Amino acid sequence: MKLIEAQNYDEMSKLAAKIIIEQVQTKSNSVLGLATGGTPIGTYQHLIKDFTQNKTSYEQVITLNLDEYIGLEKDNPQSYSYYMKEQLFKHINIPENQTYLPSAKSVQDEEAGRNYEKLIDSLGGIDMQILGIGENGHIGFNEPGTSFSSTTSIVKLADSTREANARYFTKMEDVPTHAISMGISTIMKSRKIVLLVSGVKKAPILNQLFHTDVKEDLPASILKKHLDVTIIADQEALSIL
Ligand code: GLP
Repeated sequence: MKLIEAQNYDEMSKLAAKIIIEQVQTKSNSVLGLATGGTPIGTYQHLIKDFTQNKTSYEQVITLNLDEYIGLEKDNPQSYSYYMKEQLFKHINIPENQTYLPSAKSVQDEEAGRNYEKLIDSLGGIDMQILGIGENGHIGFNEPGTSFSSTTSIVKLADSTREANARYFTKMEDVPTHAISMGISTIMKSRKIVLLVSGVKKAPILNQLFHTDVKEDLPASILKKHLDVTIIADQEALSIL
């Protein structure tokens, strides 16, 4: 894993945007795997700024998001579908029908995961996957203990994850209990992976990630086995290495 140290959140975001822009400029029909959460917002803002100033085109780009809550409509402001539209898609020239998020009708909708896997394969796989990391080491919504061979499926969210994400909801009961998430093996099939880590809250897990063996208790540790991973972390996240 290659580590790039950034001074702060904004520098991390700028560096991540630069890598994505280079990817899109090198391959105009890139398939990008995108993430949600607080961490990539600054990256998306820098992509939008670059689009406005330099007109980097996303006309042929295809995006596949990592995960989505189950039980929220697409136009619910807490859904990842809404987030992606607001934070990125509506500000750049990507056609709406080239932006995909997994979606499941209910927690019993097992077909949904298989369909998303087929979709990823039919698009030729993911060229570059952007990732964040949960405070418990999750990637996507693959909580500790998830099998490394998992593919896209319906997952139950850890209480700690629901608590961490409750800040976006009015009350805890509104936070969905389940999500559909790309699996760990799905993520590992991406040709390149860029992991963004920011803030003191992520310092303990980043410290663990660097010092632990590859184990299912720490989902992100599998990234050590991938041949092209870049971690961009800011100083706060690196503060207890
Ligand atoms: C969320 C998302 C992840 C994200 C992580 C960290 O629950 N499912 O994809 O990377 O948790 O989120 P944040 O960037 O807000 O810390």
